[in-house]
Amino acid sequence: MSIEQHPLGLPPEKIPRHVAIIMDGNGRWARQRGLPRLAGHRAGTENLRRILEACVEFGIHILTIYAFSTENWQRPPNEVRGLMSILEQVIDREIDELDRQGVQLRHIGRLEGIRQDLQVKIKQAIERTRHNGRLILNVAFNYGGRAEILDACRRIMRAGVDPEDLDEEIFSRYLYTWPLPDPDLIIRTGGEYRLSNFLIWQAAYAEIYSTPIFWPDFNRDALAKALLEYAGRERRFGRVLEKA
Ligand code: IPE
Ligand code: IPE
Ligand code: MG
Repeated sequence: MSIEQHPLGLPPEKIPRHVAIIMDGNGRWARQRGLPRLAGHRAGTENLRRILEACVEFGIHILTIYAFSTENWQRPPNEVRGLMSILEQVIDREIDELDRQGVQLRHIGRLEGIRQDLQVKIKQAIERTRHNGRLILNVAFNYGGRAEILDACRRIMRAGVDPEDLDEEIFSRYLYTWPLPDPDLIIRTGGEYRLSNFLIWQAAYAEIYSTPIFWPDFNRDALAKALLEYAGRERRFGRVLEKA
Protein backbone atom coordinates (compact mmCIF):
# COMPACT_ATOMS: atom_id res chain seq x y z
CA MET A 1 0.00 0.00 0.00
CA SER A 2 2.86 2.39 0.78
CA ILE A 3 4.51 2.04 -2.61
CA GLU A 4 1.45 1.64 -4.79
CA GLN A 5 -1.01 4.41 -5.31
CA HIS A 6 -4.28 3.92 -3.43
CA PRO A 7 -7.16 3.23 -5.87
CA LEU A 8 -9.02 6.24 -4.49
CA GLY A 9 -5.89 8.37 -4.20
CA LEU A 10 -6.14 8.43 -0.41
CA PRO A 11 -3.16 8.66 1.93
CA PRO A 12 -2.91 5.75 4.44
CA GLU A 13 -3.93 7.86 7.45
CA LYS A 14 -7.23 8.72 5.76
CA ILE A 15 -8.25 5.10 5.29
CA PRO A 16 -10.36 3.69 8.14
CA ARG A 17 -8.72 0.67 9.71
CA HIS A 18 -12.04 -0.68 10.95
CA VAL A 19 -15.30 -0.19 9.03
CA ALA A 20 -18.59 -1.41 10.49
CA ILE A 21 -21.73 -1.75 8.38
CA ILE A 22 -25.36 -1.86 9.44
CA MET A 23 -26.61 -3.87 6.46
CA ASP A 24 -30.16 -2.53 6.36
CA GLY A 25 -32.82 -2.38 3.66
CA ASN A 26 -33.01 -6.00 2.47
CA GLY A 27 -36.75 -6.19 3.12
CA ARG A 28 -37.51 -2.96 1.27
CA TRP A 29 -35.25 -4.00 -1.62
CA ALA A 30 -37.30 -7.19 -1.98
CA ARG A 31 -40.62 -5.40 -1.62
CA GLN A 32 -39.74 -2.99 -4.42
CA ARG A 33 -39.37 -6.02 -6.66
CA GLY A 34 -42.48 -7.81 -5.45
CA LEU A 35 -40.33 -10.51 -3.82
CA PRO A 36 -40.54 -12.08 -0.34
CA ARG A 37 -38.31 -10.47 2.34
CA LEU A 38 -36.07 -13.54 2.43
CA ALA A 39 -35.17 -12.96 -1.23
CA GLY A 40 -33.81 -9.60 -0.07
CA HIS A 41 -31.74 -11.28 2.64
CA ARG A 42 -30.33 -13.71 0.10
CA ALA A 43 -29.45 -10.87 -2.28
CA GLY A 44 -27.79 -9.13 0.66
CA THR A 45 -25.59 -12.13 1.27
CA GLU A 46 -24.52 -12.21 -2.35
CA ASN A 47 -23.54 -8.57 -2.00
CA LEU A 48 -21.21 -9.35 0.87
CA ARG A 49 -18.74 -11.02 -1.47
CA ARG A 50 -18.18 -7.92 -3.56
CA ILE A 51 -17.93 -5.66 -0.52
CA LEU A 52 -15.29 -7.97 0.96
CA GLU A 53 -13.31 -7.70 -2.26
CA ALA A 54 -13.67 -3.92 -2.26
CA CYS A 55 -12.47 -3.74 1.37
CA VAL A 56 -9.30 -5.61 0.40
CA GLU A 57 -8.86 -3.36 -2.62
CA PHE A 58 -9.25 -0.20 -0.50
CA GLY A 59 -6.92 -1.35 2.26
CA ILE A 60 -9.49 -1.80 5.04
CA HIS A 61 -8.29 -4.34 7.61
CA ILE A 62 -11.36 -5.00 9.69
CA LEU A 63 -14.96 -5.21 8.51
CA THR A 64 -17.70 -5.69 11.09
CA ILE A 65 -21.15 -6.47 9.71
CA TYR A 66 -24.42 -6.33 11.60
CA ALA A 67 -26.29 -9.42 10.44
CA PHE A 68 -28.81 -10.20 13.21
CA SER A 69 -29.66 -8.17 16.31
CA THR A 70 -30.96 -9.37 19.67
CA GLU A 71 -34.17 -7.54 18.71
CA ASN A 72 -34.50 -9.33 15.36
CA TRP A 73 -35.85 -12.43 17.19
CA GLN A 74 -39.12 -10.50 17.32
CA ARG A 75 -39.60 -10.85 13.57
CA PRO A 76 -42.05 -13.43 12.16
CA PRO A 77 -40.82 -17.00 12.87
CA ASN A 78 -40.37 -17.87 9.19
CA GLU A 79 -38.11 -14.84 8.64
CA VAL A 80 -36.03 -15.73 11.73
CA ARG A 81 -35.73 -19.33 10.53
CA GLY A 82 -34.78 -18.10 7.07
CA LEU A 83 -32.06 -15.82 8.44
CA MET A 84 -30.61 -18.69 10.49
CA SER A 85 -30.51 -20.98 7.47
CA ILE A 86 -28.98 -18.24 5.30
CA LEU A 87 -26.11 -17.93 7.81
CA GLU A 88 -25.69 -21.69 7.74
CA GLN A 89 -25.64 -21.78 3.93
CA VAL A 90 -23.16 -18.92 3.76
CA ILE A 91 -20.77 -20.73 6.10
CA ASP A 92 -21.14 -23.99 4.14
CA ARG A 93 -20.77 -22.39 0.74
CA GLU A 94 -18.20 -19.68 1.35
CA ILE A 95 -15.84 -20.93 4.05
CA ASP A 96 -13.35 -22.53 1.62
CA GLU A 97 -13.13 -19.40 -0.48
CA LEU A 98 -12.94 -17.09 2.56
CA ASP A 99 -10.15 -19.20 3.98
CA ARG A 100 -8.32 -19.25 0.65
CA GLN A 101 -8.52 -15.47 0.45
CA GLY A 102 -7.00 -15.05 3.89
CA VAL A 103 -10.14 -13.86 5.67
CA GLN A 104 -10.22 -14.32 9.44
CA LEU A 105 -13.77 -14.88 10.60
CA ARG A 106 -14.87 -13.65 14.02
CA HIS A 107 -18.20 -13.49 15.78
CA ILE A 108 -19.62 -10.94 18.20
CA GLY A 109 -22.88 -11.51 20.02
CA ARG A 110 -24.35 -14.29 22.11
CA LEU A 111 -23.87 -17.80 20.82
CA GLU A 112 -26.43 -18.97 23.37
CA GLY A 113 -29.85 -18.72 21.81
CA ILE A 114 -28.57 -19.81 18.40
CA ARG A 115 -29.44 -23.38 17.32
CA GLN A 116 -26.89 -25.86 18.67
CA ASP A 117 -25.69 -27.22 15.31
CA LEU A 118 -25.30 -23.69 13.95
CA GLN A 119 -23.25 -22.75 17.02
CA VAL A 120 -20.92 -25.62 16.23
CA LYS A 121 -20.62 -24.49 12.61
CA ILE A 122 -19.80 -20.93 13.64
CA LYS A 123 -17.12 -22.12 16.09
CA GLN A 124 -15.56 -24.40 13.47
CA ALA A 125 -15.43 -21.61 10.88
CA ILE A 126 -13.76 -19.30 13.41
CA GLU A 127 -11.25 -21.96 14.40
CA ARG A 128 -10.43 -22.80 10.81
CA THR A 129 -9.68 -19.20 9.79
CA ARG A 130 -8.09 -17.93 12.99
CA HIS A 131 -4.58 -17.69 11.55
CA ASN A 132 -5.61 -15.67 8.49
CA GLY A 133 -4.63 -12.02 8.44
CA ARG A 134 -5.55 -10.37 5.15
CA LEU A 135 -8.94 -9.15 6.34
CA ILE A 136 -10.87 -9.65 9.56
CA LEU A 137 -14.56 -10.26 8.93
CA ASN A 138 -16.32 -9.76 12.22
CA VAL A 139 -19.92 -10.91 12.11
CA ALA A 140 -22.39 -9.44 14.60
CA PHE A 141 -25.02 -12.15 14.88
CA ASN A 142 -27.44 -12.33 17.79
CA TYR A 143 -25.65 -9.15 18.76
CA GLY A 144 -26.94 -6.31 20.93
CA GLY A 145 -24.84 -3.47 22.29
CA ARG A 146 -26.68 -3.42 25.60
CA ALA A 147 -26.40 -7.20 25.96
CA GLU A 148 -22.67 -6.84 25.28
CA ILE A 149 -22.26 -4.24 28.02
CA LEU A 150 -24.25 -6.35 30.49
CA ASP A 151 -22.20 -9.44 29.58
CA ALA A 152 -19.04 -7.42 30.15
CA CYS A 153 -20.29 -6.30 33.58
CA ARG A 154 -21.05 -9.89 34.55
CA ARG A 155 -17.60 -11.06 33.48
CA ILE A 156 -15.90 -8.18 35.28
CA MET A 157 -17.77 -8.98 38.50
CA ARG A 158 -17.02 -12.69 38.19
CA ALA A 159 -13.34 -11.92 37.61
CA GLY A 160 -13.37 -9.96 40.88
CA VAL A 161 -12.04 -6.74 39.35
CA ASP A 162 -11.62 -4.09 42.04
CA PRO A 163 -14.16 -1.30 41.34
CA GLU A 164 -11.42 1.26 41.97
CA ASP A 165 -9.28 -0.30 39.23
CA LEU A 166 -11.99 -0.27 36.59
CA ASP A 167 -11.34 2.14 33.76
CA GLU A 168 -12.34 2.34 30.10
CA GLU A 169 -9.34 0.35 28.96
CA ILE A 170 -10.04 -2.51 31.34
CA PHE A 171 -13.76 -2.41 30.63
CA SER A 172 -13.20 -2.74 26.90
CA ARG A 173 -11.19 -5.93 27.49
CA TYR A 174 -14.43 -7.62 28.54
CA LEU A 175 -16.39 -6.60 25.45
CA TYR A 176 -17.02 -9.07 22.61
CA THR A 177 -14.89 -6.96 20.27
CA TRP A 178 -11.68 -7.25 22.29
CA PRO A 179 -8.90 -7.01 21.04
CA LEU A 180 -10.17 -5.26 17.92
CA PRO A 181 -9.86 -1.47 17.77
CA ASP A 182 -13.04 0.63 17.80
CA PRO A 183 -14.68 1.21 14.41
CA ASP A 184 -13.49 4.37 12.65
CA LEU A 185 -16.43 4.49 10.28
CA ILE A 186 -19.95 3.13 10.70
CA ILE A 187 -21.96 2.90 7.49
CA ARG A 188 -25.71 2.40 7.59
CA THR A 189 -27.46 1.45 4.36
CA GLY A 190 -31.23 1.79 3.94
CA GLY A 191 -31.42 5.43 4.94
CA GLU A 192 -32.08 5.41 8.70
CA TYR A 193 -30.13 7.58 11.12
CA ARG A 194 -29.82 5.33 14.15
CA LEU A 195 -27.48 2.74 15.60
CA SER A 196 -30.19 0.16 16.46
CA ASN A 197 -28.14 -1.14 19.40
CA PHE A 198 -24.98 -1.64 17.30
CA LEU A 199 -21.56 -1.18 18.95
CA ILE A 200 -22.94 1.46 21.28
CA TRP A 201 -19.82 1.52 23.47
CA GLN A 202 -17.33 1.27 20.60
CA ALA A 203 -19.10 3.89 18.46
CA ALA A 204 -18.20 6.70 20.88
CA TYR A 205 -16.00 8.48 18.35
CA ALA A 206 -16.86 6.65 15.14
CA GLU A 207 -17.72 8.69 12.06
CA ILE A 208 -21.25 7.84 10.98
CA TYR A 209 -22.34 7.68 7.35
CA SER A 210 -25.88 6.93 6.24
CA THR A 211 -26.90 6.22 2.65
CA PRO A 212 -30.41 5.59 1.29
CA ILE A 213 -29.06 2.74 -0.87
CA PHE A 214 -30.51 -0.62 0.22
CA TRP A 215 -27.87 -3.15 1.28
CA PRO A 216 -28.20 -5.51 -1.76
CA ASP A 217 -27.42 -2.52 -4.04
CA PHE A 218 -24.54 -1.13 -1.96
CA ASN A 219 -21.57 -1.76 -4.26
CA ARG A 220 -17.87 -0.90 -4.58
CA ASP A 221 -18.59 2.60 -5.83
CA ALA A 222 -20.99 3.28 -2.98
CA LEU A 223 -18.30 2.15 -0.53
CA ALA A 224 -15.76 4.35 -2.31
CA LYS A 225 -18.09 7.33 -1.86
CA ALA A 226 -18.38 6.63 1.87
CA LEU A 227 -14.59 6.37 2.18
CA LEU A 228 -14.07 9.66 0.34
CA GLU A 229 -16.52 11.39 2.63
CA TYR A 230 -14.78 9.86 5.66
CA ALA A 231 -11.42 11.11 4.38
CA GLY A 232 -12.81 14.64 4.31
CA ARG A 233 -14.03 14.57 7.90
CA GLU A 234 -12.05 16.10 10.75
CA ARG A 235 -11.88 13.78 13.75
CA ARG A 236 -11.29 15.94 16.79
CA PHE A 237 -11.93 13.55 19.70
CA GLY A 238 -12.96 16.51 21.81
CA ARG A 239 -9.79 18.46 21.22
CA VAL A 240 -9.08 21.67 19.37
CA LEU A 241 -7.03 21.04 16.27
CA GLU A 242 -4.60 23.90 15.70
CA LYS A 243 -4.40 24.83 12.06
CA ALA A 244 -0.86 25.58 10.92
C1 IPE B 1 -31.52 -5.80 7.34
O1 IPE B 1 -32.57 -5.68 6.45
C2 IPE B 1 -31.20 -7.24 7.65
C3 IPE B 1 -31.63 -7.67 8.99
C4 IPE B 1 -32.09 -6.90 9.92
C5 IPE B 1 -31.50 -9.08 9.29
P1 IPE B 1 -34.07 -5.56 6.96
O2 IPE B 1 -34.68 -6.92 6.96
O3 IPE B 1 -34.16 -4.83 8.23
O4 IPE B 1 -34.69 -4.68 5.78
P2 IPE B 1 -35.75 -3.53 5.93
O5 IPE B 1 -35.20 -2.53 6.88
O6 IPE B 1 -37.01 -4.16 6.42
O7 IPE B 1 -35.88 -2.99 4.54
C1 IPE C 1 -30.53 -3.30 12.29
O1 IPE C 1 -31.55 -3.26 11.38
C2 IPE C 1 -30.08 -4.72 12.48
C3 IPE C 1 -29.38 -5.31 11.35
C4 IPE C 1 -29.04 -4.70 10.22
C5 IPE C 1 -29.00 -6.69 11.53
P1 IPE C 1 -33.08 -3.29 11.84
O2 IPE C 1 -33.88 -3.23 10.59
O3 IPE C 1 -33.33 -4.44 12.73
O4 IPE C 1 -33.19 -1.94 12.67
P2 IPE C 1 -34.45 -1.04 12.99
O5 IPE C 1 -35.55 -1.95 13.44
O6 IPE C 1 -34.82 -0.34 11.72
O7 IPE C 1 -33.99 -0.08 14.03
MG1 MG D 1 -34.35 -2.84 8.70
